Amino acid sequence: MAERIAIVNQKGGVGKTTTVINLAAYLATRGKRVILLDLDAQANATSGLGFGRDDSRNGSYELLINATPLSDCVHDSGRRNLQICPGSIHLAGAEVELAAMEGRERRLRNALEASDLNYDYLLIDCPPSLGLLTLNALTAADSILVPIQTEYYALEGVTLLLDTFQSVRQSLNPELEIFGLLLTMSDIRTQLATQVEEEVRKAFGERVFKTVIPRNVRLSEAPSHGLAIVEYDRRSRGAEAYQQLAREVIRRSRRRSSQS
Ligand SMILES: Nc1ncnc2c1ncn2[C@@H]1O[C@H](COP(=O)(O)OP(=O)(O)OP(=O)(O)O)[C@@H](O)[C@H]1O
Ligand SMILES: [Mg+2]
Repeated sequence: MAERIAIVNQKGGVGKTTTVINLAAYLATRGKRVILLDLDAQANATSGLGFGRDDSRNGSYELLINATPLSDCVHDSGRRNLQICPGSIHLAGAEVELAAMEGRERRLRNALEASDLNYDYLLIDCPPSLGLLTLNALTAADSILVPIQTEYYALEGVTLLLDTFQSVRQSLNPELEIFGLLLTMSDIRTQLATQVEEEVRKAFGERVFKTVIPRNVRLSEAPSHGLAIVEYDRRSRGAEAYQQLAREVIRRSRRRSSQS
């Protein structure tokens, strides 16, 4: 079983990168072989795992634009079962370069399919846009995981995202599914959070993960130390939530593979 999940939401700052880092780390501690693929020029997932800036190192850009083999673009994260295909500032120009290329939306898919690297999960951290980088992620992925910030107008923008999801299904990737929607940064037990949660569950039902990620300062501190929350403060509420999410993801994967 190799599951490719794009963590996507064109809205900025909703918790995509935080989710990618911590879900990857917890899946790895549960014995899953994980590749974290950072497709954002900000490269926050890369630095959040303690990878310094090094624009000469192979990573997502080389995979996508030069078709460098995946095995030459991934690096040991220093953690068991977790490898990283780093992002870099080069990705900032990739949209423009891709635009002129043949099969421009399928390059990531082709690159991943050409690889015989073994993994259980490949998690793609998408940039906050619906440009060609994100389209490549949606075309390459089996499913999407959508973090939604628990705030007023939480669903704003999700409709646009789901329209894009549908059009990718119609043309580029008919198999693409919704893995789940994840409520993030919840000020749990406040009236607002409760209302927003109800609204999102009413709209999307079972697709919403049971796990809700609370707002927790430890989660925002960890990346500046280059650490996942499991390494930084595994007893924090944020850590407990991401650990629970990893369990839920594994359960959902099992269900999905038994259905297919
Ligand atoms: N549950 C949380 N509790 C507290 N702070 C959080 C939480 N999740 C994320 N943050 C913080 O909020 C900010 C945005 O989160 P993050 O970078 O994960 O979002 P993003 O969707 O990847 O953003 P971008 O769209 O810019 O890539 C970061 O400073 C992060 O540390
Ligand atoms: Mg991000």
